[in-house]
Amino acid sequence: MWLQYTAVLAVLAGLAHSSAPAGPWDAFNYAPSSKTVFPSTIREQNGSVAVADSAVGSVGAITLSGNWSWVTLDFGKEVGGLISMNFNNVTNSSAVALSFTESPIFIRPWSSDDSSTPSSIEHYDGVMHVLAPLPSGLWTQDAMMLRGGFRFLTIASNSSDDVTFSNVSCAISFMPHVERLDDYAGYFYTKDPVSSDEDFLTKIWYAGAYTVQTNTVPLNTGRRVPAVSSAVGWANDAALGAAGPIIVDGAKRDRAVWPGDMGIAVPTQFVSTNDLLPTKNALQTMFAGMNPFTGALPESGPPLSQQGSDTYHAWTLIGVHNYWLYSGDDDWIRSIWSNYTKAVRFLVGKVDSSGLVNITRLRDWARVGGGGHNAEGNALYYKVLKNSVDLANAINETALADGWVANATIFKETYNNAFWLASIGMYRDNTTTVLAPQDANSMAVLFNLTLNASQANSVSKGLTVNWNNLGAVAPELPDTISPFIGGLELQAHFESGNDDRAMDLLRREWGYMLYTNLSVESTLLEGFTSNGSLLYRATVGYSRDAAYISHAHGWSSGPTSALTFYVVGLRVTAPQGRSWIVAPHMSGLGGAEGGFATPLGWFGVQWSMSRGEYIFQANITTPEGTEGSFTSPVAGSATVDGESSMSIVNGTVIALIGGSHTIEIAIS
Ligand SMILES: *[C@@H]1O[C@H](CO)[C@@H](O)[C@H](O)[C@H]1NC(C)=O
Ligand SMILES: *[C@@H]1O[C@H](CO)[C@@H](O)[C@H](O)[C@H]1NC(C)=O
Ligand SMILES: *[C@@H]1O[C@H](CO)[C@@H](O)[C@H](O)[C@H]1NC(C)=O
Ligand SMILES: *[C@@H]1O[C@H](CO)[C@@H](O)[C@H](O)[C@H]1NC(C)=O
Ligand SMILES: *[C@@H]1O[C@H](CO)[C@@H](O)[C@H](O)[C@H]1NC(C)=O
Ligand SMILES: *[C@@H]1O[C@H](CO)[C@@H](O)[C@H](O)[C@H]1NC(C)=O
Ligand SMILES: *[C@@H]1O[C@H](CO)[C@@H](O)[C@H](O)[C@H]1NC(C)=O
Ligand SMILES: *[C@@H]1O[C@H](CO)[C@@H](O)[C@H](O)[C@H]1NC(C)=O
Ligand SMILES: *[C@@H]1O[C@H](CO)[C@@H](O)[C@H](O)[C@H]1NC(C)=O
Ligand SMILES: *[C@@H]1O[C@H](CO)[C@@H](O)[C@H](O)[C@H]1NC(C)=O
Ligand SMILES: *[C@@H]1O[C@H](CO)[C@@H](O)[C@H](O)[C@H]1NC(C)=O
Ligand SMILES: *[C@@H]1O[C@H](CO)[C@@H](O)[C@H](O)[C@H]1NC(C)=O
Repeated sequence: MWLQYTAVLAVLAGLAHSSAPAGPWDAFNYAPSSKTVFPSTIREQNGSVAVADSAVGSVGAITLSGNWSWVTLDFGKEVGGLISMNFNNVTNSSAVALSFTESPIFIRPWSSDDSSTPSSIEHYDGVMHVLAPLPSGLWTQDAMMLRGGFRFLTIASNSSDDVTFSNVSCAISFMPHVERLDDYAGYFYTKDPVSSDEDFLTKIWYAGAYTVQTNTVPLNTGRRVPAVSSAVGWANDAALGAAGPIIVDGAKRDRAVWPGDMGIAVPTQFVSTNDLLPTKNALQTMFAGMNPFTGALPESGPPLSQQGSDTYHAWTLIGVHNYWLYSGDDDWIRSIWSNYTKAVRFLVGKVDSSGLVNITRLRDWARVGGGGHNAEGNALYYKVLKNSVDLANAINETALADGWVANATIFKETYNNAFWLASIGMYRDNTTTVLAPQDANSMAVLFNLTLNASQANSVSKGLTVNWNNLGAVAPELPDTISPFIGGLELQAHFESGNDDRAMDLLRREWGYMLYTNLSVESTLLEGFTSNGSLLYRATVGYSRDAAYISHAHGWSSGPTSALTFYVVGLRVTAPQGRSWIVAPHMSGLGGAEGGFATPLGWFGVQWSMSRGEYIFQANITTPEGTEGSFTSPVAGSATVDGESSMSIVNGTVIALIGGSHTIEIAIS
């Protein structure tokens, strides 16, 4: 019923946006319903602090008496934007200092957590001084001093005179083009029978979705590069690219476009908000930065404009395919086609007589090594070739498509000959090592570089050697758990049919991130060490600065799309979902439901499996005019729309057309 209701509304109002149905899952949506948010509790205080009129769900007027009396306000989850407050009673010399942090372990009246640059002192950013004389009445933070991601705001008195303030609020700056941040185009819901929190899987889906929203920012809110001095602290007023809103890597930092990160963040965006304009703007930015002579793409967007990464070059090209598949924007593909093909030729030009790409521009997701005939870079190259075939076919560039098909076919064999190590049943990092990396092995399964199911199974099993109780430790970045590469590994387990393994990894790694009190407990960490500390990349770029890591990094949101694509089982196989597949992975659950709207309409799946009655049931709704299929996760006797009982096995594919269908399978 809701379906017809929203469809009618959309037609009447001429709205581009359609909403997911309302339901119990809405309680888990982290996105605030208003763009002005208020702290609800006092987390810590020290010195002389008096709180008046504290009402439920909001903090009353606060008086700080004496230099360095301070109070920490808790917004309850990750937020980002400009602070306002009312100064009710000040003297000429009253002054305050504001400090911000995502993690509660960096609540410090004398410094924020770090965003400008990593520094071993762990307090480069310092405080934002609001100097005497304070205004009497409303005060709003300067736009330059925007803090893009934080949960805790500490306000310290900075003079011996009293200061009384009230109505502290944050005007959310992310998702500037959207009024209702919680009005999602997609949803997900299940009960987790294994985790101690039965809503864990639903929460993690929404945590990923909200993380990507916090990474979707206005054009002129990038971090200043080079970093401002530690006396200034931080500045977020740099232009981020061609147009805004634009998707960046993290809320607090770097606040720049990073195409590798988009490899995980954009599928999240598609299944949750279907808000693809920030992605188009980010990709456009990367192409605008292409080297006109060589065709090399930058590693990141401005103002960072980092150069020198063959893998991130490939990720931009992969991003084009994701954007095209989700949006159906053929016109945009045509508009960048000459740059796109030039960038593909840049990679083709690096293929040497061995048939492999020689990776020479070594910057990457932080891993070490990665050069020469490297398995990760070559896996990305293969994915680019396969994707390029789809894009070429979409715009009738058939000769190019044929060339890429032929090269991809040969390349797959070359790849397996070069990297497959039968002795351990995994791919090696390069041709001079026996190290089996997490990145290339996950990608090989995910991108179908494996030659058969048993090889994919072997890789899936082999990857578990790197697990500890907090997740998968990457051999190619020692002592590190990378939820970015972990998100690829998660999909590889599902893709190879090892659903229990996927769920196990999800509960360990993302369970840790969501619940540890080191984290912001709402959005998802950039990374952590194998013992769970925040000293991510301590010796590889981050100068032992645990205060620098981001607690809202879209590249860590892998479970969001994986739960929709694999557990609900719903995926699009042609732009906007003109064709689709429904292939639920039961994953030890009693059922799951979810879906998303595209401009074609609503795509939704509900499935359940009543163990007592041995009945698998699925409801599938897709727009009229589309076509797809259902892949059975069980064997038995199937009834489709109440008719034609047929005997099926696990994996049987049933063709369907758009509309509503009910499938019931009596399990044999
Ligand atoms: C808390 O206040 C006490 C005395 O007022 C002071 O000695 C101490 O340093 C303060 N602690 C912090 C963390 O500000
Ligand atoms: C304002 O602050 C002064 C000095 O701290 C105090 O005497 C006065 O009562 C305060 N006024 C109000 C309205 O709270
Ligand atoms: C302090 O404020 C009062 C008015 O509230 C004003 O008369 C006085 O000149 C100010 N003193 C200074 C030093 O600015
Ligand atoms: C407040 O404390 C800071 C740091 O301890 C000090 O530099 C400053 O002079 C103090 N201000 C007053 C008015 O006491
Ligand atoms: C194509 O690349 C050039 C740089 O080589 C850039 O100036 C131009 O803006 C790009 N065009 C598009 C449509 O991306
Ligand atoms: C080959 O792989 C090993 C193991 O990851 C690494 O130490 C080495 O640096 C790599 N070689 C190159 C050229 O990157
Ligand atoms: C890759 O290219 C670099 C630079 O030309 C060269 O030094 C290196 O030997 C090549 N690696 C391989 C595996 O051919
Ligand atoms: C692509 O080719 C097909 C078949 O030749 C044709 O029907 C279609 O109109 C062409 N599309 C475009 C955009 O040129
Ligand atoms: C296929 O590979 C060959 C050899 O590397 C290369 O010369 C050719 O340009 C490639 N074709 C395409 C369409 O990329
Ligand atoms: C994966 O590659 C094999 C050939 O090696 C092919 O038969 C199979 O259809 C591919 N799978 C997918 C999902 O494309
Ligand atoms: C169906 O096959 C998939 C893929 O091999 C497997 O993961 C799943 O456990 C099977 N389901 C049942 C009920 O056997
Ligand atoms: C399928 O839809 C019917 C009718 O709305 C409902 O009774 C049933 O519970 C649904 N099945 C699942 C698995 O949600």
